[in-house]
Amino acid sequence: MTDFPQNSTIADVIRHRRTIDNFRPERPPREAILAAIDLARWAPNHKQTEPWRFHLIGEETAREIVRLNTELVRQQKGDTAAEAKQNRWSAVPGWLAITCDVSDDPIRAEEDYAACCCAAQNLALALWSEGIGLKWTTGPVTRLEEFSHLLGIDLGARKIIGLFWYGYPASISNSRRKPVEEIVEEHV
Ligand SMILES: Cc1cc2nc3c(=O)[nH]c(=O)nc-3n(C[C@H](O)[C@H](O)[C@H](O)COP(=O)(O)O)c2cc1C
Repeated sequence: MTDFPQNSTIADVIRHRRTIDNFRPERPPREAILAAIDLARWAPNHKQTEPWRFHLIGEETAREIVRLNTELVRQQKGDTAAEAKQNRWSAVPGWLAITCDVSDDPIRAEEDYAACCCAAQNLALALWSEGIGLKWTTGPVTRLEEFSHLLGIDLGARKIIGLFWYGYPASISNSRRKPVEEIVEEHV
């Protein structure tokens, strides 16, 4: 178990949120996830397209995703790596995916993707403020057609933004950012 940072202000939540991939076993309540999605959807979205969909993944489907990923790793890296991956992924308590409307218009597609990423970060911050950690993954399994089939996603209509793990953190890793002076450019 980990000491969860006290998040009293929005600045604290933004600064202290970390990607979590080591979880305590219990799954956070569905109401907490729905409350975070309720906040996530207030992300900016050009032309009010609300292009996001949040796919809540149940235990049965999560097991299938683990199986799919295990086989993928087995093909690429062999049995030992596959078994290690299976053990790690099987310990993840909560699963969801975010998808975005597909558009033929490249500008709209880019804006909608950006809006979905804003929604994903809102989700992460909303969960973090309730003591729930998230990991956003775009790993190879999410690009398999079978992954979309498992979730009933039509790739002609929806783009996968990511697969998200959630749960109560068992540990929190450090992360670093470049100094502000390195990322700011002044223009007169
Ligand atoms: C679009 C996107 C895709 C990501 N995909 C992965 C991933 O496949 N595997 C992973 O371990 N982390 C993934 N991450 C998490 C980043 O590795 C993480 O945000 C980064 O290391 C910074 O850590 P922090 O979130 O704790 O600040 C992803 C993050 C984003 C925004």
